Amino acid sequence: MDRFDAALSLSEALLADPLPDRWRHVQAVAAQADRLVSVADVDGDDLRIAAVLHDIGYSPAIAHAQFHPLDGARFLDAEGYPERVVALVARHSCAIVEADLRGITGVEEFHDEQSPTRDALWYCDAVIGPQGQLLSPDDRWTEIRRRYGAHSLVGRFLDEAEPQLREAVHRTEARMRVAGVVL
Ligand SMILES: [Fe+2]
Repeated sequence: MDRFDAALSLSEALLADPLPDRWRHVQAVAAQADRLVSVADVDGDDLRIAAVLHDIGYSPAIAHAQFHPLDGARFLDAEGYPERVVALVARHSCAIVEADLRGITGVEEFHDEQSPTRDALWYCDAVIGPQGQLLSPDDRWTEIRRRYGAHSLVGRFLDEAEPQLREAVHRTEARMRVAGVVL
């Protein structure tokens, strides 16, 4: 079994049964990652693995801190996953901003590499909805605000994080154009 297949099996084991919608989301995010492996300076192997693992912290089996980027990263670290993949999961989609709002510490211990690979992961997560449907980033963020409430903690997180999320999406889209990948 190669590294990606092992990560896929792990994600399926943790998510598919307790959280089928989340599992659909993760599979669709991983499919987006597949499209981006030819983009310049994107590490396709690490991107695909991080994409399929990015939300495993939602699994009730490992949700110890009740904050999925941190729970996922800590679990993967204990499983012996490479530091880079662990950090990509810990920091995905501006998790540090939500952690600060929730008063949760630990995310800051992981490095946010601010690279094309990291931007690509954030892009993939921004174009896939909660049941795995393809959405524009704007529709994705509108859907999150509707689901949680604009004035909820998640709504406030989005208000603060959206500029950074949008920049990661725009940088990735520009790289996709250069690489000839359809937006
Ligand atoms: Fe996600």
